[in-house]
Amino acid sequence: MKGQIPSYHTRHVLGIKDMSLENIQALLDRAMFYADRLEVEPRYKSGAWHGSCVANLFFEASTRTRLSFERAALRLGCDVLNFDTHASSLKKGETFLDTLHTINAMRPDAMVIRTDLAGHLADLANLFRAAIINAGDGINEHPTQALLDILTIKRRFKTTDGLKIVICGDIKHSRVARSNVYLLHKLGLNPVLVAPQELSEHTNWPDGITCTENFDEAIRQADVVMMLRIQAERIDKNLASDHDTYFKRYGLNAKRLHLAAPHAIVMHPGPLNRGTEITADVADHPKHSVILDQVRNGIPTRMACLEAVLENVR
Ligand code: NCD
Repeated sequence: MKGQIPSYHTRHVLGIKDMSLENIQALLDRAMFYADRLEVEPRYKSGAWHGSCVANLFFEASTRTRLSFERAALRLGCDVLNFDTHASSLKKGETFLDTLHTINAMRPDAMVIRTDLAGHLADLANLFRAAIINAGDGINEHPTQALLDILTIKRRFKTTDGLKIVICGDIKHSRVARSNVYLLHKLGLNPVLVAPQELSEHTNWPDGITCTENFDEAIRQADVVMMLRIQAERIDKNLASDHDTYFKRYGLNAKRLHLAAPHAIVMHPGPLNRGTEITADVADHPKHSVILDQVRNGIPTRMACLEAVLENVR
């Protein structure tokens, strides 16, 4: 099994922005392999990484990402250490860095980290023996989410070539949007971004990325509509406290979805706020919604990412 791992040439998974296309393809191919495998063999469990240890260190709230990393690590045959911020020595004044050093001293092979500190994981990565996987760093990046999103698109459409992809919501504070824009751009696609002006600022987009306030226009004939939650926890004053006004312009209901291509898929990284950015009938739509497929595809994607870094651990 180990011999089949496509070559992944860096020690960590820190972000999509600085990841080579070769590494991206290697991870996506391997994720596709595992997704196929899990479909035919739901109880699949590899013994290849028996004795390797993955530490899940989530300093911010998470349901699907944390459990999906745990499920992925267990599927690979790894041991898993889970860390609960609320019951940890952080509560006694221990710093974030001391916590990481403490856990690293227990010699996990990979540390999966979610933190509200944006853009600092690359500096930290060199301090530890363990490989680092970014499970969301503030408003910066969420690379494994973008990879699982592309896997979901590829499993539905077989290819990403020529697809019209619209990403709508709180672009400004969304690490999911950021990683997806970088990833889609590297794959030769320019998604259309939709957000109210105050939630759309971003100065560092690659060339060709546009942002509009006109959702009705942008969604026309879209193949993929990706909705985002308003990241209220990252906004000083809740810009979207007026849910009705926000929904009228930026919410996805059946009527608006009708403007997209008939085969359009609806994506959302979760957690959903039903009624704020998406109606329940659209979120649960048996034909259009792939929201739970995204959750399922998180496991093979994270198996691919974990395996890639475990292979390179000294
Ligand atoms: C997202 C996150 O935490 O960045 N969720 C996820 O990981 N699936 C998006 C969000 O919190 O809105």
